Parts: sequence; structure tokens; C-alpha cells
Amino acid sequence: MIYATMRSIASYIPQRCVSNFDLEKLVDTSDEWITKRTGIKTRYFASENEASSDLATKAGEIALKRAGLEPSDIDLVIVATLSPDYVGMPSTACITSYNLGIENKPAFDITTACTGFIYLLSIAKAYIQAGMYQNILIIGAEKISSLLDFTDRSTCVLFGDGAGAAVISATQDPNEAILDVHISANGRYNDFLMTPGCGSRNPANQHIIDSNLQFIQMKGNETFKLAVKTLAQDVEHILQHNAIHPSEIKFFIPHQANLRIISAVGEMLDFQKDQVVVTVDRFGNTSAASIPMAINSIYEENKLHKGDLILLDAFGGGLTWGSALLRFGGNPL
Ligand code: ACO
Repeated sequence: MIYATMRSIASYIPQRCVSNFDLEKLVDTSDEWITKRTGIKTRYFASENEASSDLATKAGEIALKRAGLEPSDIDLVIVATLSPDYVGMPSTACITSYNLGIENKPAFDITTACTGFIYLLSIAKAYIQAGMYQNILIIGAEKISSLLDFTDRSTCVLFGDGAGAAVISATQDPNEAILDVHISANGRYNDFLMTPGCGSRNPANQHIIDSNLQFIQMKGNETFKLAVKTLAQDVEHILQHNAIHPSEIKFFIPHQANLRIISAVGEMLDFQKDQVVVTVDRFGNTSAASIPMAINSIYEENKLHKGDLILLDAFGGGLTWGSALLRFGGNPL
């Protein structure tokens, strides 16, 4: 039987650290409000000349090295991003592959916002279990600062930039397998989170730019309520479906949008505090990069080991959501 395993994990965090106090100078907000409502203290922004593919390339290089693979060993590259280098084409995955020295292999992007990494796992698992590929590089990469309206305090304080990458490989060993991945979506709520301008619905023109419609807009409160309910249901479902009790999970690694959402879902599902991984305080919401960055942080702290059972869960624009249950397959650092 062929299984898919997460052979390595890596991340790249841009250099510029932006604190809540820095944002107080831009918009009418306060460290107290941001901390209390979101749990965020800092986030990192890419430099002007860094694009999402540059962040993806740096995370991808480390993921390849940690997997002990050469660029020529990779059969497919997929990037999840809501902040691609270019609107339309070329894909961020094509640019990233070329940067990494991976040529004449398939590469494509997916757009499922904050649920990006769970969708990537689902696609990679299916290709590998079908016997089509041996090694797939998946990357969540975001320069969300390029999509932020720094006159809108309700969104600009929430997000950060970064990239997280993993190599997903074929294995015969069930003790390091990705056990289950569940993904879903409901376009009914497409206007909860959107970048309304510069696509085919509202092509770029002076009015669009003057109205800041090229930037992220969010119905925060409505999204918050739906996120808590959907995430809790989704986790319950995947645990029941695999007959696993929350106490058997080493780490619960939810999407890092808001500490209040993470705590509410963690409590509803009876996870202990030390089971729940939190990085939103340091990185803010890095959308498709948030889950691999969080996995990488416990890996680099030497808390995550081969065979550990982890549970991932995400919710984002679309709306989209999903969860994954896997035994980590990476070697120690
Ligand atoms: N600083 C100070 N005050 C603010 C700020 C700010 N940065 N932002 C909003 N406020 C004010 C509002 O104007 C409002 O004032 P009012 O009562 O006078 O009208 C008040 O604070 C409360 O605003 P709410 O929007 O009700 O605040 P809430 O407690 O809901 O928190 C937040 C807002 C943090 C955005 C929260 O709703 C949230 O986290 N939503 C979900 C985010 C999420 O899960 N997104 C999904 C993934 S993202 C993706 O896919 C890209």
C-alpha cells in the first residue's frame, strides 16, 4: 500500500518586524485593542522588492534540504497563495520552481485563501496514493502586506507575510502517513472576505484604485462566528471518522487568524492548552502560510518528532475550510 508522508517542513519569515505600536502610528488603533481582540503582538512584512515567490523559494530550499532531496527529485510544485506575484500569469509556482532549479516539471497555484495548505495536502496525497508522483513540493506563500489597505484599521492590523513549505513523499510506512484530509467550501458567503477590485468582475481602473478596492475587505464579525462553528464541527467530524479521541493528538495546529477563535475551538473540543499550537501572537494571520509556519515552529523547537499524530484545521475566504490528520514523517533537525 502506498501512503503519503510529510517528509519535511520549513518556513521563511521576512526580516521586518512590525509591532502593534508601529501600526498605532498609521491608523487609529492601539496595542491594547489588537492584543485583546486578536492576540497579535507582532507580524513580519516583506521588503518592497520581495514578492511571494521569493518567500516561497526560501522556504522551499530549506524543505528540500531537510527532505534530503535534490531539485531534480521533485515531480510537482504547488503553491497556495492569495497574494500571487502577478494577477493571472505566470503562476507563483512556475516562478518558484524555476528559482529552485526545478524545470520541465508541472507547477501550478491554488487559491483557497487561509485553507490553502489543507487543500495542498489533499491534492498531494491524492497524486501520491494514485501512484503518479513520488515527491511533491507544496508551499503556502503570502505577501499579504501588498493587499492591505493601511487606511482600514479593521483589516490592516490582522495580517503578516511569510511562507511555509513541505515535501510530501510516497512511503510504505503507515506510522508516518497522512491519515485523512477533508476539504470543503461554500460560495454563498463569498463576500465575507474578498479583494473586490482588479479581477474580471471589476477590472483595474482609476476609480477602483482611488476607492482602494484592490485591497482585502472582510466582514470580521460574521466571519468570526462562522469560523468558530465550522472549525469545531470540522474537527469533531474528522476525529469521529477516524475513531480518534482528542487526548491522542500530540498537537492541534489550527489556522492562525485570531487567538479568540483558536481558544474557543480548543475549549469546545477539550484540547489541553499544551496541545494547541499558537503563533498568531508573533506572525499575525499569514493565510496559506500560517499552518506550515506553525508546524515548522514546533519542529524547530524540537517538540515535533517522527510519528507524532497532529491535527490541522483551517478556515478562510471563499468560504473554504478543511482539516487533516497525519503522523509527521520528518527526520530530526
Ligand atoms: N483598532 C481599534 N478599534 C477597532 C479596530 C482596530 N484595529 N478594528 C475595529 N475596531 C473597532 C470597530 O470599529 C468597532 O467599533 P464600534 O463598536 O464603535 O463600531 C469595534 O472595534 C468592534 O469591532 P468588531 O469588528 O465587532 O470587532 P471584533 O471583536 O469582531 O474583532 C476581528 C474584529 C478581529 C476582525 C474579528 O472579527 C475576527 O478575527 N474575525 C475573523 C477573522 C477570520 O477568521 N478570518 C478568516 C481567515 S482570513 C482569510 O481567509 C484571508
